[in-house]
Amino acid sequence: MKEWSLFDEITSAKGVWLRDSKGNKTLDAVASMWCNVWGHSNQELINAITNQSKKLQHSSMFNLTNEPAEKLAEYLVKISPKMHKVFYSDNGSSAMEIAIKMALQYWKNIGEKNKTKIATLENGYHGDTFGAMSVGYVPEFFGKFKKQLFTTLQFPVPNKYRVPKGFTFLDYQNHCLEKIENEFAKRNNIAAFIMESGAQVAGGVIIYPKGFQNKINKLCKEYDVIFVLDEIATGFGRLGSMFQFQEQKNTPDIVAYGKMLTGGYLTMAATLTSKKVYDSFLGEFNDWKHLFHGHTYTGNPIAAAVALENLKMYKKYKLIEKIQSTSKIFEKYYQKILEIDIVGDIRHKGMLMGIELVTDKKKKTPIHPKKSINKIFFEEGKRHGIYLRTLGNIVMIVPPLAITKKELELLLEKTILTIKAARAQVI
Ligand SMILES: Cc1ncc(COP(=O)(O)O)c(C=O)c1O
Repeated sequence: MKEWSLFDEITSAKGVWLRDSKGNKTLDAVASMWCNVWGHSNQELINAITNQSKKLQHSSMFNLTNEPAEKLAEYLVKISPKMHKVFYSDNGSSAMEIAIKMALQYWKNIGEKNKTKIATLENGYHGDTFGAMSVGYVPEFFGKFKKQLFTTLQFPVPNKYRVPKGFTFLDYQNHCLEKIENEFAKRNNIAAFIMESGAQVAGGVIIYPKGFQNKINKLCKEYDVIFVLDEIATGFGRLGSMFQFQEQKNTPDIVAYGKMLTGGYLTMAATLTSKKVYDSFLGEFNDWKHLFHGHTYTGNPIAAAVALENLKMYKKYKLIEKIQSTSKIFEKYYQKILEIDIVGDIRHKGMLMGIELVTDKKKKTPIHPKKSINKIFFEEGKRHGIYLRTLGNIVMIVPPLAITKKELELLLEKTILTIKAARAQVI
């Protein structure tokens, strides 16, 4: 975009603060694209990287393995209920491509030819590659590629702020679930149901109502559909528990992790499977049951070493408890934020908040200026010392997970000032 020709250059960062080449400091309200856990320049994570980089920087996982990758896989299986094996990749989109391939091939491996269709939720987001775009279709992002994407069955998601006329919220939830059940009952070709776990993040911070995800889990079991959960943005504490599928006592067949796995320091993702799915891929050479998938940097030892250290620190510093306590600061600010006349709704869980901007509170008309909301908020945020990113008409507050209460208060104060300052430019 022409308007963005001059990006600020970040030259260093410490804790929640980013510093640019001109010496400006901004609070990283985006956790460097939702992945930073402990803040920047954390010495324990740096040590894990430097120590491992002196021993082995990378070696292939084709026919070989390495110690950090093995240890990490073991640990991930230990903390992920009912998961059995780990398949590494290096970004969330790839982890989802792998999940899709595993889910589809599972049925082939067990000799079921009919099950080829994938079901998803409307407005989901699972990454920017073609398979991920197909299962996570957000019209604004992917409309240009619609013809090249494979088709999925898409079901509506209950959003408390935008319940269709004639429904109570509870009725609408039930209606959404009935739609899924009716389709499951009607067809016998659904291979998998794929959804973000706990909440849709990029789709506008839609936090699922209690029981919604659990019911889909149950329907998948009842109708023999592989249940795939994407924990890439919501896992590792973002929503206040280690994993949403664990908090909700779900039993997915496949789960994808990414983003915060390495504390936000190096690129790594993982797709975990249950024993049932894993076993279907075991066979003799000529059975051709194995998964044809692998990336150059799969299982990178430095990334695995920093991921291991990151996860060790979750325990050492009781991060999940800390998040639950710090998260209460958001609640203190609900009223103050909602009082702003262009704020229609706020949605919050754990260390994630979405602030929905509207031009008319009563009609809930989303803000759609000719200018880029993102750019306006970025500039105003910068003036107030915060690095902010909006998604459509939603202001996203996604700080590093270990942010202190004081820093979070500062961030929310500055966010309020930023919204007020941006108001005149966006309506
Ligand atoms: C839920 C979810 N899945 C997958 C992805 C894709 O991850 P990556 O950007 O690492 O490819 C994202 C990225 O934001 C995400 O939010």
